[in-house]
Amino acid sequence: MDSILILDYGSQYTQLIGRRVRELGVYAEILPGDTALAGKEAEGVIGVILSGSPRSAYETDAPRPDSALYALGLPVLGICYGIQVMTAELGGTVRRLPEREYGKKAVRLVPGNAGGGLLEGMPHEFSSWMSHGDSIETPAPGFEVLAVSEGGIPAALHDSERGLWGLQFHPEVSHCEGGSRILENFVSCICGAKREWSMAAYLDEVAQRVREKVKGGDVLLLISGGVDSTVAGALLLRILDPERVHLLYIDTGLMRKDESVEVMRNLRELGAVHLHRADAEGEFLDALAGIDDPEEKRRRIGDLFVTIQEREVARLGIPGAFLVQGTLYTDLIESGKGIGASAQVIKSHHNVRSPLIEAKRKAGLVIEPLDRLYKDEVRALGRLLGVGEQVVRRHPFPGPGLGVRILGEVTKERCELLREADAVYIEELKRRGLYDRIWQAFAVLLPLRSVGVAGDERKYGSVLALRAVASEDGMTAEVYPFEGHDLLGISTAITNRVSEIGRVVYDISSKPPATIEWE
Ligand code: XMP
Repeated sequence: MDSILILDYGSQYTQLIGRRVRELGVYAEILPGDTALAGKEAEGVIGVILSGSPRSAYETDAPRPDSALYALGLPVLGICYGIQVMTAELGGTVRRLPEREYGKKAVRLVPGNAGGGLLEGMPHEFSSWMSHGDSIETPAPGFEVLAVSEGGIPAALHDSERGLWGLQFHPEVSHCEGGSRILENFVSCICGAKREWSMAAYLDEVAQRVREKVKGGDVLLLISGGVDSTVAGALLLRILDPERVHLLYIDTGLMRKDESVEVMRNLRELGAVHLHRADAEGEFLDALAGIDDPEEKRRRIGDLFVTIQEREVARLGIPGAFLVQGTLYTDLIESGKGIGASAQVIKSHHNVRSPLIEAKRKAGLVIEPLDRLYKDEVRALGRLLGVGEQVVRRHPFPGPGLGVRILGEVTKERCELLREADAVYIEELKRRGLYDRIWQAFAVLLPLRSVGVAGDERKYGSVLALRAVASEDGMTAEVYPFEGHDLLGISTAITNRVSEIGRVVYDISSKPPATIEWE
């Protein structure tokens, strides 16, 4: 299959480049910036993109591509640092700008030169997305400037002899006007990639990979209730003998309303034979009694989860089973496995480290069948496998569940209260056609009570905060801009239907500086 290789130098946007290429129906793989490149064409690579970076191309220890890059004869597109490092290596100069150029900036094309097709179809002037502190002072010999920014900086370059292209702005960022068009020009027209990447193709490929590894043995999957592990379960049931597939769901009692029931029903419908459910609500509530410190809550939930996981897995009596995890491409990249030594890991991985998983990994018994997929691709695969819409469309949910959405002490009553209020919120969003436009929405129960009135009586009710964010991947997030009438309608629906809630507030903090979750 044709693929585009993305060499990563640690930009926060690298993953977005990968997603955009895949959205074009072309497989994209992200590898560390210093990966050895000899023989890559034989693996199907037909073009290379160099990512941005927080580093500077003129530093002596700046991360660089393998020098074989220029001898491959493949089209190369450098984005931001990517073109700066090419410039520095090929005899041009890069300098620090007196002031960082950031955000939407106008770019103007040099008339009559579309750069061998890269800028084909772009308007004479468009709004690009810049994020750089260095810029190209003198292009390397052989490069022509195709476009200039409003600050007079080279914004697009082309070396037609060697088949090298560069962009100072970020076409992968959605704010860049025509950015997808430029990437499509590169991937489809310049590299000539065939659109062969689809979930059906992935399913065939992964089926072969997993079957070869498992060779008829047992596999065990821990179901969390979220989209990823449910899709992983559906996948195993489709590609392996269901008699060999053991699904274990640990119900912490900290799940959203009806979540456990729907997931279990779905997996049964998809042919699960060994579907085990461990009811651990009581144990979790006992462990959380009297605790209101967020870190302590997270620690206790994590530790208990590991203990119960070990106990329940031992109880299943399949010691040599392969352990399947619903790890995604983004998880690998976030935890630093997919990227170069120089990369800046923006967020450490949230998930609990468990001795069971570590031991299985050491023994070569871990399988991660979704590890090349982005979240939206997992959803598409889920649909292909017949996972219900209710599950596939569900917003992301943190491992510690409602434990980190109940501020203050976690009790059964407060869990019930939040579950009900959250369910009304989500139902209202769906009814108003807003749910699928929002990346993640949820309610948070605050450790406060406030005065109100109900009929003629004073009421001392709980305070509920609503959160709704737009995001690509959870690393940054913007507050969802509700219409006033929607917010008011949602608030009324919640206080009418959940009488213990006396007051509803809306969280208007973006990430950064806030995080998406409150704890
Ligand atoms: P934050 O709160 O860090 O969240 O801005 C970013 C995304 O990660 C989810 N999240 C978690 N996911 N285990 C998880 O599996 C966790 O401990 C955890 N904490 C936060 C959060 O819901 C959001 O989607």
